[in-house]
Amino acid sequence: MKFFIDTANIDQIKEAKDLGILDGVTTNPSLMAKEGITGEKNILDHYVKICELVKSDVSAEVVSTDYKGIIEEGHRLAALHPNIVVKVPMIKDGVKAIKDLSSQNIKTNCTLVFSAGQALLAAKAGATYLSPFIGRVDDTSWDGVQLIQQISHIYSVYGYQTQVLAASIRNPLHIVKCAEVGADVVTCPLSSIMGLLNHPLTDIGLAKFLEDYKKGNA
Ligand code: E4P
Repeated sequence: MKFFIDTANIDQIKEAKDLGILDGVTTNPSLMAKEGITGEKNILDHYVKICELVKSDVSAEVVSTDYKGIIEEGHRLAALHPNIVVKVPMIKDGVKAIKDLSSQNIKTNCTLVFSAGQALLAAKAGATYLSPFIGRVDDTSWDGVQLIQQISHIYSVYGYQTQVLAASIRNPLHIVKCAEVGADVVTCPLSSIMGLLNHPLTDIGLAKFLEDYKKGNA
């Protein structure tokens, strides 16, 4: 399973990269705004900065909602760097745009996905990645991980190449559960990735080993 980090924060991207497990980055307009990055030029420059830092797939989201606008914006984003993945919302014009961008070998990430029906459309259109938002599904008292399982099953039955990218991850358990049901990618906040490190028995065991080493070498 690939690990992406879900942030536009350069320090957090660096920290995940330094851990040696980072396969890519996803952003969205809210994450950019959270870092205070506004205005088209600043936003585009920031995407390039992230691409140069990670040298792997970086999702950059369009803000157009009509077919022509999505295509134009998609080309503008894709031209920024070879690692840009154009993130397109799951709407009618978005599906049409994903079909066209994919046929021009531009990588796409279909975002704001909440159902298996939407996942089918995105795969048929040739999306590179599909982003079901599992945390937001959980927030409505449905089961986000079950959605990942359902979509992964459908994709494997039909051999769709679209990679299931579990998004809206809220905690380390989400990551483990997504791995169990065969997600291709998880995009996570840094805190969820780092949370995977934690186990009290590791801390207790390490303290004991170091204590015994000191005794033996006193
Ligand atoms: C990533 O691609 C999504 O935009 C993101 O994971 C959404 O997460 P949120 O539900 O925590 O905003």
